[in-house]
Amino acid sequence: MPLPIILDCDPGTDDALALFLALASPELEVLAITVAGGNVGLEMTLPNALALTALTGSKVPVYAGADRPLLGAFTSETRVHGNDGLGGIALPPGGPPCPEHAADAIRRIVRASERPVTLVGIAPVTNIALALMTEPAIAANVERIVLMSGAWGEGNATPAAEFNAVSDPEALAVVLGCGRPVVMATLEIAAQALCTPAHLAAMRASGSGRCLQAACDIQNSVPFSRRLGGMGAALYDPCAVAWLIRPELFTTQAASVTMDLGPGPCRGRTVIDRWGRTGAPANAMVLETIDAGGLFTLLTGRFNRLP
Ligand code: RIB
Ligand code: CA
Repeated sequence: MPLPIILDCDPGTDDALALFLALASPELEVLAITVAGGNVGLEMTLPNALALTALTGSKVPVYAGADRPLLGAFTSETRVHGNDGLGGIALPPGGPPCPEHAADAIRRIVRASERPVTLVGIAPVTNIALALMTEPAIAANVERIVLMSGAWGEGNATPAAEFNAVSDPEALAVVLGCGRPVVMATLEIAAQALCTPAHLAAMRASGSGRCLQAACDIQNSVPFSRRLGGMGAALYDPCAVAWLIRPELFTTQAASVTMDLGPGPCRGRTVIDRWGRTGAPANAMVLETIDAGGLFTLLTGRFNRLP
């Protein structure tokens, strides 16, 4: 039986590859795609999600959600994703979104599902937090929440914090405190599987489908980060989805994860208690290592299942 999931995203170059992976994988049943502002504003992440979904031929419903965090102002990351969110790679437009707000759709779908639903958050988790805050009872039908979020150490958006976490720290605190199992793919797991020019060339040569080519074109637009040694680009969001499909590619560590919600330079930091120094009970399973070759084999194989 495929695993029922809702994918919450902010496409976003790495979101694009994660969305393709999810829609190409028979292990998953994507019940809905919900969209938040993040890498770029919702006015771009929404059409990007619609276009990416349409490119795969999928009829999965897409819902617009939050265009800002629970508290504070919206900030984007156009330096990595370009002003349009997909590195300037133009796709044929998708269809219209469903009229329901993403948070309402998450509540309705989880409430009605005969099987517990896995929530996959690869954006600022405002939509997921809104759903859980306005109808806490749905948590009983949430299998687990799998996130690309946070960092064991240095951040990428600030010295202290990862982008999704610092974009809406209060929302992440709500999710971490909701009582359901949380799995976190942090910055560090993606840093172990950088997409190098050689990886991209091999992936591009592996097939000729429009989705494979779009994935390669989008990934090729991503600048290499100095923080990662300029050797390649990190596939943050695909790591979170890949864990659902091939958990054996990863090792994990149960840990207590708390949020710095202060106004200072550490705001949005995920404080991951790897050695149990605080005595606080573990509230998350944090990915520690990845079989990088296995990830690229999975991505290449699945992208070639798409049109
Ligand atoms: O820090 C990386 C995360 O922030 C990824 O989800 C990327 O798409 C951005 O949303
Ligand atoms: Ca994302």
